[in-house]
Amino acid sequence: MPLRPLVLLPNPLLKTVSVPVAQIDDEVRRLATDMLETMYDALGIGLAAIQIGIARRMIVLDVSREEDKREPRVLINPEIVWQSEERRVYEEGCLSIPDYSEDVERPDMVRVRYLTLDGQVEELEADGLLSTCLQHEIDHLNGILFIDHLSRLKRDRVMTKFTKAARRKGTA
Ligand code: NI
Repeated sequence: MPLRPLVLLPNPLLKTVSVPVAQIDDEVRRLATDMLETMYDALGIGLAAIQIGIARRMIVLDVSREEDKREPRVLINPEIVWQSEERRVYEEGCLSIPDYSEDVERPDMVRVRYLTLDGQVEELEADGLLSTCLQHEIDHLNGILFIDHLSRLKRDRVMTKFTKAARRKGTA
């Protein structure tokens, strides 16, 4: 299965609000496989379809962190149906913002409703790293990056750095 090139900051595609997946067909199943391959290849723990330039509401994750015990998850049209009032801080990174990480505060626990690749409606309640990862990836579907949760000063600094880097490479 082909690896797909990652969309990087400051590409405006990352601001896109993705559209729901209307039908789970072969194309969607292929996309899910490609997303997982691309995520594993980049040593990520989560990836949203828009990060490979596809504006559909699909995310993949694997927070198992053990190569011999992979736990791939594919969530289609995921939505947060409950979140805890308690919040926690976790240091986040993003495959679209390489070599940058920063503390982000989010709800500690979430419950997410989604479709499986078989078209079944399922719910997943998560805390810890999985909760953070789910919230981060679902944000991507709404055009929101983790740096959007930081102070304007920090965000501007990151944007400037990546815009300059892209200009040097001739990609922006
Ligand atoms: Ni990300």
